[in-house]
Amino acid sequence: MSASDNTTKRGPNTHLVSAGRHPDAQHGFINTPVYHGSTVLYETADDLFANRIKYSYGRRGSPTIDALTEAMNELEGAEGTVILPSGLSAVTTALLAAVGAGDHLLVADSVYHPNRHFCDTTLKRFGVETTYYDPLIGAGIADLFRPNTKAVFTESPGSQTFEMQDLPAIANIAHAKGALVLMDNTWATPLFFKPLDYGADLSIQAGTKYISGHADVLIGTISANEAAWPRLRDTHGNLGLSTGPDDIFLALRGLRTMGVRLARHHQSGLAVARWLEQRPEVARVLHPALESDPGHAIWKRDFKGASGLFSVELKPVSDAGVRAFLDGSVLFGMGYSWGGFESLIVPFETRGRSMPSTLEGPAFRLHVGLEDVEDLTADLEAGFAAMARA
Ligand SMILES: Cc1ncc(COP(=O)(O)O)c(C=O)c1O
Repeated sequence: MSASDNTTKRGPNTHLVSAGRHPDAQHGFINTPVYHGSTVLYETADDLFANRIKYSYGRRGSPTIDALTEAMNELEGAEGTVILPSGLSAVTTALLAAVGAGDHLLVADSVYHPNRHFCDTTLKRFGVETTYYDPLIGAGIADLFRPNTKAVFTESPGSQTFEMQDLPAIANIAHAKGALVLMDNTWATPLFFKPLDYGADLSIQAGTKYISGHADVLIGTISANEAAWPRLRDTHGNLGLSTGPDDIFLALRGLRTMGVRLARHHQSGLAVARWLEQRPEVARVLHPALESDPGHAIWKRDFKGASGLFSVELKPVSDAGVRAFLDGSVLFGMGYSWGGFESLIVPFETRGRSMPSTLEGPAFRLHVGLEDVEDLTADLEAGFAAMARA
């Protein structure tokens, strides 16, 4: 029996540990080995002519690939999953599977910015028109549909500003109008939110973040329900996308411990967010698990937890003060990406969005890692002290 049989009644951490593992097929070894390979040999001419072989070519599948896709199918409740070489390639491939020339696309205004850039450049060049909607729109999205609207791209909470979207309301309308619903679910991971259970047709993960969890891999996944799977599989195959087996192995290794890591990110992230809320330098903390957050009711209704990523808006302060704050909080490394074991901070602006910005002071996105909370708050306090001196 494989490690992932009889799965329906098990808890999420048991799924994480056992999903996609078949020690009996690997001489008892716990982890699926890394299969490096392009060519796969057929045993006989009969097999060759009948294409009778489990794996026919490295790009089309391997036990390493199967281990991750099987695990993601189980976690996402999906019909099928494809693996991609980055989170952004997962976003763009999902869009290419959903729309074509002459189609209209609805995209949340607070999606990950390179997603928007893809819509405004490549998709536009291929004849797809995009309208950006207010992420708080909910059922009001009905007014934005046109006869040729073929897909809605959601990301909840949104990048940088963390607006929660009412996915069930949006998906009900989209499906009534014959459109597919896509969701970038990187923030919550399938552990804290399962988009396919709430009406999405395609669920996207930048596995670079929490799945891998150690800031050493770029990888993406798209998981599809039954309706969307044939188009996704075909588009992924046509694009010739192939992800290195070492990176797939590292993503699988990260997946096994994602439950304990995320529980800690949730706890520490919220503790740091609450600490920041009380600071005199802070205007606003944007974190949907805070009771004060406008998206809290939706987060509580639909999500099982929060990850370690949120934003803070400071009261207006000089540019020198901002730099002193960033340089003064040394445990929060300055760098892009998130989801690893380490704490990070980056400043952001919302220029380039369609909706007017509500930010008045400087804003920062924080990733709270696995360090001790007391050290992190002491570190931020040192940053604020440096800011005051600047
Ligand atoms: C929400 C979201 N989706 C997708 C991506 C893209 O992932 P990758 O960096 O692996 O391309 C990111 C990266 O920061 C992200 O924040």
